[in-house]
Amino acid sequence: MAEIIDGKTIAEDVIARVKQQAASLAGSGVTPGLAVVIVGEDPASQVYVASKSRRAKECGFHSVQHSLPAETSEEALVALIDELNADPAIHGILVQLPLPDHVDAGRIIQAIAPEKDVDGFHFINVGKLGTGEVATAFVPCTPAGAMLMLERVRGKDLSGLSAVVVGRSNIVGKPMANLLLAANATVTIAHSRTKDLPGLARTADILVAAVGRPEMIRGDWVKPGATVIDVGINRIAAPEKGEGKTRLVGDVAFAEASRNAGAITPVPGGVGPMTIAMLMANTLTSAFRAAGREPPAF
Ligand code: GUN
Repeated sequence: MAEIIDGKTIAEDVIARVKQQAASLAGSGVTPGLAVVIVGEDPASQVYVASKSRRAKECGFHSVQHSLPAETSEEALVALIDELNADPAIHGILVQLPLPDHVDAGRIIQAIAPEKDVDGFHFINVGKLGTGEVATAFVPCTPAGAMLMLERVRGKDLSGLSAVVVGRSNIVGKPMANLLLAANATVTIAHSRTKDLPGLARTADILVAAVGRPEMIRGDWVKPGATVIDVGINRIAAPEKGEGKTRLVGDVAFAEASRNAGAITPVPGGVGPMTIAMLMANTLTSAFRAAGREPPAF
């Protein structure tokens, strides 16, 4: 049976370091500040945003949340971002996605000052990651967290290992592939148009699933001994728990896959907790840079 890579424990380690480093920064007169912006009432987004704001407070950060009605105009949103860009007490700005259809999410993301873009979605940060300028970039939180989990099993240098990333989103698949490449893995990005996905997945020493389809990756897609990182968080019906009940599953059929894998991340309790921890780490990094101090490595 596979080793379970416990995201909760690794995330708590990261949070503990963030708290300690935030306290050390207080000596320079700087409190890390995170502004989280949410537009509309999407229940899942509300839950994510509340836990981001709560974690920020727990880390000793200055934490502000802007909850705006669904009908907020693009211009009003840009004006708020301009204000936050100019506010010296704010080091990180996160606009929760998805945004309502009448708002151009691309324009909003590009309006965030790159040095406060703790999501790592601005073209400047995407470009820095793609060209290996990671010392001054912000790396998107979910892939950054997935890499820390992978590091616990495989170390920092992935030379000679093949990695297959299933999913090509800007938020996870593409930055994940860049991070794996920067760590010397031989990387393939697979997606819905890939021929013989199961066969390709079986070649992977490191298999990353980021497709958003419940339990799509089956046990026999996993090479014996492979490390499996499941980024998916899908809510499905769970009639066995009672009428109307649901449960969370990943993109990987966990029970089957863990018979073949050497190590695997669970859902829940895997990559999920790491995402928020890395958001705190990125906000801390931004505050260190603003204070002219070398940020700690995570
Ligand atoms: N919605 C789902 N994941 C994310 C994320 O990582 N950042 C933001 N801003 N919105 C999201």
